[in-house]
Amino acid sequence: LLGSFRERTDDARRAEDALLFIHDQKSAVRMQSVIDGLVSLTDSLDRYRLGLSASQIPASLDALRSAAREEYEHAAAGRSTVAELISQQRTRPAIASVDSALGASATTLRNSTRQRVADATNETLNAERLVAGALPIALLLALAIGIWLMRSISRPVYELERGMHAIAEGDLRYQLALAPNSATEFGRLAASYQKMASQLADLERLRAEFVGVASHELKTPINVIIGYLELLQEGIYGALTPKQKEILYTIGKQANGLTRLVKRLLDISRFEASGGKLEVRRVDLQRLLKTLESSFSVLAMQRDIAFSVEHGVGLPSKVYWDEDRINEVLGNLVSNAFKFTPRGGRVALSVAPVDGNVVITVADTGAGISSEQLPHIFDKFYQADNQAQAASKGTGLGLAIAKEIVDAHAGQTTVESVVGEGTTFVVTLPTDAPGVKRRPEPTPPEHAPEAEDGG
Ligand SMILES: Nc1ncnc2c1ncn2[C@@H]1O[C@H](COP(=O)(O)OP(=O)(O)OP(=O)(O)O)[C@@H](O)[C@H]1O
Ligand SMILES: [Mg+2]
Repeated sequence: LLGSFRERTDDARRAEDALLFIHDQKSAVRMQSVIDGLVSLTDSLDRYRLGLSASQIPASLDALRSAAREEYEHAAAGRSTVAELISQQRTRPAIASVDSALGASATTLRNSTRQRVADATNETLNAERLVAGALPIALLLALAIGIWLMRSISRPVYELERGMHAIAEGDLRYQLALAPNSATEFGRLAASYQKMASQLADLERLRAEFVGVASHELKTPINVIIGYLELLQEGIYGALTPKQKEILYTIGKQANGLTRLVKRLLDISRFEASGGKLEVRRVDLQRLLKTLESSFSVLAMQRDIAFSVEHGVGLPSKVYWDEDRINEVLGNLVSNAFKFTPRGGRVALSVAPVDGNVVITVADTGAGISSEQLPHIFDKFYQADNQAQAASKGTGLGLAIAKEIVDAHAGQTTVESVVGEGTTFVVTLPTDAPGVKRRPEPTPPEHAPEAEDGG
């Protein structure tokens, strides 16, 4: 705008020269149009509110308009001296006054622009400072929100996942570290989880009780059948034909198999129905091992198998276990070893203290188990495909019972095996098992482990 003002004042100077020296109609019109142009530019300039200096321009333009008109009249009338005088004293000073007002306006404009730039720079700096100060606060806030989210969402989800995993693994007594309540979604989920776990535990107990009752009820009729079979085989009810003897032998074998199954089912259901509770009491480890050794030594002789029991140095004389249940575990492991080891083989039981635990190893030189089947042998009713090498039939429950009992003692059971070379079971038991300690004094075990042969 200021640039075009300057052009117009230059135009005004040229128009004034034409007015003075040519003074025709055209030069008068041209001067008028230059002044009109300057007036309309002044209106535009007003809008910028440049203060006093700009407001002088209209007055100077008015003076210019009347001086130019008079100058033209005199010049046109041939009074060139008067016209020149007007030009020097009024017209040109008026143009110069417009110019100087413009110069002042330009300075004002430049100063105010400079001021605005400085203001804007200051504001930008302030904003930068504000952002720099706010950034750490925002980061801290984000961190706090992150931690809060983790605590309030991730942790309950993780806890629920652990609970579900525990239930899937069969641990129905797993307690969630998450309070059940009806106020939050996770509280309600925790409540549902607890309800589900307790219903499953009830079902599991009922199932174990049912198996227990059913197998108990089966015991009596099977014993009666076996009793009469024996009487028949002894010829008490008359002489038997060879065919009848053969049939009775088969019936006898099946009935014995049933007895074994019923005994195993009773063992497992009793333990499970009690919720896997142990009757932990002080156990004389040496005596327990002696009893075990003598129960199996007869079988070892009959089967021509070298059986050794090794007591490691530093074994604690007393441990706290459920003696009957541990007898069951060791009985099952040693029975298996004898069952799958051929004549002339070896079965070795060794017991040693390791890191405050008692480590029991049962190793044999028997049939072995293939690596694909090894992970399944602790499953109920699972039997590997080495049954042809077994000395007697089984039910596939012995190891499942053994593992449950060892787990209840907070112990571990592991196994290694090579087909055709042998199998080694390792049971690690803490010297002091968790459980209800009822009787501090050791009492003789309910029954020594049976050296099962079956046959
Ligand atoms: N010492 C071993 N040598 C070779 N195979 C073994 C040995 N111990 C266990 N097994 C394999 O693991 C399977 C499961 O053993 P488990 O003791 O549970 O059942 P079982 O001996 O067949 O029957 P039960 O013990 O109930 O009378 C066995 O059938 C056998 O295939
Ligand atoms: Mg067995």
